[in-house]
Amino acid sequence: MKSIIDYIEKNLTPKRLKHTYGVCKQAVELAKKYGADEEKAYKAALFHDMFKDISQEKLEEMVDLYGLDERYKCNLNLAHGKLAAAVMNKEYGINYSDVLDAVSYHTTGRAEMTLLEKIIYIADAIEPGRNYPGVDDLRKMVEKEDIDGACYLSIKSTIRNLESQSLFIDEDSMKAKDYFEKRRGI
Ligand SMILES: [Fe+2]
Ligand SMILES: [Fe+2]
Repeated sequence: MKSIIDYIEKNLTPKRLKHTYGVCKQAVELAKKYGADEEKAYKAALFHDMFKDISQEKLEEMVDLYGLDERYKCNLNLAHGKLAAAVMNKEYGINYSDVLDAVSYHTTGRAEMTLLEKIIYIADAIEPGRNYPGVDDLRKMVEKEDIDGACYLSIKSTIRNLESQSLFIDEDSMKAKDYFEKRRGI
């Protein structure tokens, strides 16, 4: 089987590679804390940003190759998780649907997120290398076993940031926000 470590070591920028290993560490810690499968959390984290640094040309080629919607051609931010999930499945022989979904939805979240999806989503946001206003609040919530609260807060601030820059907001992000509001009785 292909080695994902070889791939990311060769293709990711040093910064992205460091982030990826940070997400791995964080995801395994959270899996331990919240009772999810540590091996699956590690695997999803390892693959999650494998295509975050590809060129526009490569993005277009891969969107065609894996049959993704045309709209992904102009949005690497939304496409990279979908492409990673497709490649994990087709090229690396990983067929655990929960791992593939955690990778696929790591950028947007979605309604009815599973525990593994929440772990990857929030590990991506709070891994040790992350440093932005509000990140410590998320870390505290996760520490206090409120992973839902942390995901909700993170999704809300992502939507707010996109709105303030007049950028496209994926439907799944809005659905994730509604889902957490319903769960939390907001
Ligand atoms: Fe990502
Ligand atoms: Fe990431």
